[in-house]
Amino acid sequence: MTETAQSITIVKNGPLIVRGSIPLSVQTIGVNDEGEAVKWIEGKQYPLQAVYSLCRCGQSKKHPFCDGSHAKCGFDGTETAERLPIVELSKTYDGPDIYLTDAKCYCALARFCDPHGGVWNMVKLSDDPEIRPVLLQEVWDCPAGRLVAWDKKTGEAIEPKFEPSIVLIEDPQKHCSGPIWVRGGIPVISADGTPYEIRNRVTLCRCGASHNKPFCDARHLLTHFKATEDK
Ligand code: FES
Repeated sequence: MTETAQSITIVKNGPLIVRGSIPLSVQTIGVNDEGEAVKWIEGKQYPLQAVYSLCRCGQSKKHPFCDGSHAKCGFDGTETAERLPIVELSKTYDGPDIYLTDAKCYCALARFCDPHGGVWNMVKLSDDPEIRPVLLQEVWDCPAGRLVAWDKKTGEAIEPKFEPSIVLIEDPQKHCSGPIWVRGGIPVISADGTPYEIRNRVTLCRCGASHNKPFCDARHLLTHFKATEDK
């Protein structure tokens, strides 16, 4: 029996169809005493399914799965995101050992980039052996892949290793549920059949409110989106 390739296909004005037995779990943004985002806290792991459909309209009563509510609520899931490679949408921040690329349009406001003065300042000190790992960890914790660190010597992206997996982000500090974090280079295919650029870290909208669909643009914080779990 041949295994189905791993992929996420967007249904027009409907859910995300996940194929290829991709693990699904919940992770929460953990904060320190100062209220800074500093760690991912692992949560519920869903039973493995070969194929499943994830809600992206925000109206399902069986989150994270689609229950057909998108049809009743007249969900407009039009994909408005740019199809350009992320580097063409990014601003570059230079440093001695590392440079950063920053594509603000993908920001999911997870806030891991802010502690220690922010990655944009730390990159200027990227030849400091104490600062470099802190900088890299903050960049790697950016679920959206808005931020990418590049080795100046090799010109290669310095990326964390992820098994292909999907994480539902919870953000209790902001009293909301966050986007769908797609990790490990899983192909995301538009409703028109066109694949998006494959990236190691991507966040897809699950509240239905993004203006940059299928990607998250942090509007879940404005709409105070709360996923209603399947019981
Ligand atoms: S996409 Fe189907 S219920 Fe939300």
